Formats: sequence, structure tokens, C-alpha cells
Amino acid sequence: MESGGLSSTEQKLIRESWQQVSASPLEHGVVLFARLFDLEPDVLPLFQYNCKKFSTPEECLSSPEFLEHVRKVMLVIDAAVTHVDDMHCLEEYLANLGKKHQAVGVKVASFSTVGESLLYMLEKCHGPAFNVNVREAWTKLYSAVVKAMSYGWDVPGKVE
Ligand code: HEM
Repeated sequence: MESGGLSSTEQKLIRESWQQVSASPLEHGVVLFARLFDLEPDVLPLFQYNCKKFSTPEECLSSPEFLEHVRKVMLVIDAAVTHVDDMHCLEEYLANLGKKHQAVGVKVASFSTVGESLLYMLEKCHGPAFNVNVREAWTKLYSAVVKAMSYGWDVPGKVE
């Protein structure tokens, strides 16, 4: 997997801007997913625990099972930040993670909305410090993650 073509300056911007977020990942992850449900409400029914669908985003956002998913997402982003200089080591894991999401009915296109929601959360956290350079760096990092996950779509093989 490519490092997404991130320069060392971009890698530094990513690491610095993640520090504040990773100090309280759940809080920031909830901002990300609340935005996702605003932008693409159709993904809400994909989250089902014990076959139970949530009737509102608020109900979903306060469920312990869903909050575990939020934590998992933030851990994956954290791993991408940690390995921003060499994302190859995450390639197989991410492809398999993509496969798992295909299996639960997620469309690759929805990951773009997750990306927009990620940028929204980062901007909320940093305000004007989240300038065009930081935004560009994050767009590259997130695209590299989605690219690796999308290798899992429609490719037979390992899931569990
Ligand atoms: C539209 C967006 C998404 C939907 C609808 C979705 C849905 C799901 C569902 C239903 C599961 C299985 C139940 C669970 O573990 O809670 C799951 C698992 C998981 N998701 Fe997502 N997800 C989305 C985005 C993401 C993103 C962006 C990441 C990370 C970058 C991610 C990381 C994970 C991880 C790490 C697991 C656990 C996989 C395992 O059990 O090995 N998800 N997701």
C-alpha cells in the first residue's frame, strides 16, 4: 500500500493534529458519527446489535455496542496515524476489514461520507488551525485507508 504520497511535513501535521483528538477518542468519534448520520441517514440501519435496529441516530449514538464501534473506528485511524510513514503493514488488515464491511452491507461510497465526517470532526476540534494544508494531509491519509479497505470488496478470501 502506498503511504498515500504524504510528505514528511504532511505526516507531521497529521501526527500533531491527531494528538488532541486521541486524548478523548470516544467524544470525537461521536461527533464524527453524528455528522455521518446527518449526511447519510441510510447507514443507520446497518448498525444492528442482536438484530435490533435503532429508530433514531440519538438512540444509536447512546448504545454501548455502537460506542464500541466508535472506539474501534478511532483505533483504526490511530493505527493509520502511527504508521503514516509506512502504511504497507496495515494493508492486509484493512483489506479484510473492508470485506467485513461489505458483508454487513456497507457500500464503498459511504466511506466517502465517513471521510467528510472525519474532516468535519477535525475542523470542529481545531477551528482555524485546521487549515488547507492539514485538511489536504488528512484527505490523503483517509483516502489511503479507504483504498486499502476497498481492496477487500468483491475479492474472495479471508474474513474471520
Ligand atoms: C458507513 C460506515 C460504517 C458502517 C455502517 C460500519 C458498520 C460496521 C458494523 C455493522 C460492524 C460489525 C459490528 C460491530 O463491530 O460494531 C463493524 C465492525 C467494525 N468496523 Fe465498521 N462501519 C463503518 C465504518 C467503519 C470505519 C470507517 C472503520 C475504520 C476505519 C470501521 C472499523 C470497524 C472495525 C475495526 C470493526 C470490527 C471488525 C472486527 O470485528 O474485526 N468501520 N462496522
